[in-house]
Amino acid sequence: MDQSDVAGDIANILLTREQIDAKLRELAARIDADYAGKDLLLVGVLKGAVMVMADLSRHLHTRAEMDWMAVSSYGSGTKSSGVVRILKDLDSDLTGRNVLIVEDIIDSGLTLSWLLANLRSRGPASVEVAAALRKPGAAKVEVDVKYVGFDIPNEFVVGYGLDFAEKYRNLPFVATLAPHVYS
Ligand code: IMP
Ligand code: MG
Repeated sequence: MDQSDVAGDIANILLTREQIDAKLRELAARIDADYAGKDLLLVGVLKGAVMVMADLSRHLHTRAEMDWMAVSSYGSGTKSSGVVRILKDLDSDLTGRNVLIVEDIIDSGLTLSWLLANLRSRGPASVEVAAALRKPGAAKVEVDVKYVGFDIPNEFVVGYGLDFAEKYRNLPFVATLAPHVYS
């Protein structure tokens, strides 16, 4: 194999693009049913949620707007720092809006609980969360994630928007990395 090929860095594929796509269709159908007749503002959390937002939103039939926020919770490592900083705020006013936060993964839930409190303080009609992936640690915090794609084991994963040191976001599947990548 070519040393520059990303395939050599993958240990195990946890979720294929077909599995992810089928699950996002299901979530979109539930969201369509729940938001029928309402306005919907999808809020994507950069950069990880780019893939989920693109795919989930294209399965929706509901009229939806899209906005983006960037927050920092991780450095280039693999553990949540617990410190959340807004790097890019929303363009939209949330007053009276039905907000659906679109996330890649809920790990400790620290980022999300902070984000929920922050967005709820802006006077929206409702705030819910859709996440492609959830790890077991998320159960420890009181965050109610209404739409969850997959519950996955407590392993560090990349792909489908998720990075390790900003790489691997472009993989169309969710996978673990080979040990040599970390060393
Ligand atoms: P939390 O605050 O611990 O829930 O972390 C949420 C953020 O950490 C996610 O939006 C991701 O950016 C990042 N993260 C958590 N777990 C992983 C992982 O397994 N791979 C890559 N990024 C992760
Ligand atoms: Mg993220």
